[in-house]
Amino acid sequence: MRKPLSIIAGAVALGLVLAGCSSNTGSDPDNANQVEVFTWWASGSEKVGLDALVKVFEEQNPDAEFINASVAGGAGSNAKAALASRLEANNPPDTFQAHAGAELTDYINAGQLQDLSSFYQENGLTDVFPASLVERLTVDGAIYSVPSNIHRANVVWANTQVLTDAGIDPMAAPADLDAWIVDLKKLKAAGVETPLALGTEWTQMQLFENVLIADLGADGYSGLWTGDTAWDSAGVETAIAHYGELLEYTNSDFAGLDWDAATQIVLDGNAAYNVMGDWAESAFQQAGWTYDNEYTTWATPGTDGVFDFLADSFTLSVGAPHEAAAIDWLKTISSAEGQKAFNLAKGSIPARTDTVAADYPAYQQTAITSFGEDTVVSSLAHGAAASIAWSGDISSAIGKFGADRDAASFLSGLVAASDKAQG
Ligand code: GAL
Repeated sequence: MRKPLSIIAGAVALGLVLAGCSSNTGSDPDNANQVEVFTWWASGSEKVGLDALVKVFEEQNPDAEFINASVAGGAGSNAKAALASRLEANNPPDTFQAHAGAELTDYINAGQLQDLSSFYQENGLTDVFPASLVERLTVDGAIYSVPSNIHRANVVWANTQVLTDAGIDPMAAPADLDAWIVDLKKLKAAGVETPLALGTEWTQMQLFENVLIADLGADGYSGLWTGDTAWDSAGVETAIAHYGELLEYTNSDFAGLDWDAATQIVLDGNAAYNVMGDWAESAFQQAGWTYDNEYTTWATPGTDGVFDFLADSFTLSVGAPHEAAAIDWLKTISSAEGQKAFNLAKGSIPARTDTVAADYPAYQQTAITSFGEDTVVSSLAHGAAASIAWSGDISSAIGKFGADRDAASFLSGLVAASDKAQG
């Protein structure tokens, strides 16, 4: 059930057209009941998550009219550019999805976000979200967005039947990347041609960040973003070698597949594994699969004890045409009820600290435990670690390596990207 490229390209083009012209979304600045919300949760399991949130919003605000300004493409791969055009044209949606961390700082520095500190105070939110998360939403003492969830990006999703058929115990996570590669080899020998499912450039970046965490450790990886770890270090070279080896076990059509199509290869039994953020949980739930039965998960080998963090958050745009309704939207997102409905459907865990773990399915319980106990690092592919410009440069170097497998040029591309971003 892979999506042909032409369909993806068509959806992208349509999304860009819609996003470029707010009248097409139905947004009317004179209608105070409307709220135009911009996300990339346009289809499939992600749309199911958004719908769950909208349902609570409409229950809490019966007169409100929700305007869905989503632009298709996982991880905002098309949405971010479409949003940039709208912001540049002074045509902002009322509120838009932005990752906590460096990516949010881009919008703050560009003066595109309103300060929500008094919203936090009025709604008692500083006590409700973890301090480390609020820090990633704050610049110079002002808080600029409201988190809807926390996702984990260092998770392997495994098809237990495919593994059992190849004589591998699905419940035993390989100790490190080398042990995992032994199993990938075993799967190939057993006739699974492409044991590791992979997708388009941002999913490659996500796999590479997992390998960096495994080879550099949490501190070494975090140092890449502060200048404490050199990009031309031996650890990064090892990571490039490991990453290159992993690519040998992937589907050759990866460049054209979004995450859902890559995850589908595991669901179809044509791959044993997919490294994916835990929005994949929603896809397994919707397929009716049971955790630790048809599928299981573990931390990407070599990253056990680390939580590779990202959070979706919602902003209040400068010049939002429907400011009061947008504030109502932010209230729903931050409410216990809104977070529960959304996260049950999305596969993520609530950002709120008053979460009752037992209310969540098995996978999310593992994520709640891990977030509470493990070392938290910032995801590269999902805006937490690096600015949009820097991660764009890294992404290009990764995409190029996927095509030419030239390790030396990959390393110099990464070093150049870091020099440009960090000076
Ligand atoms: C992430 C986002 C998630 C999920 C994923 C795939 O960047 O934070 O909520 O949507 O992309 O599209």
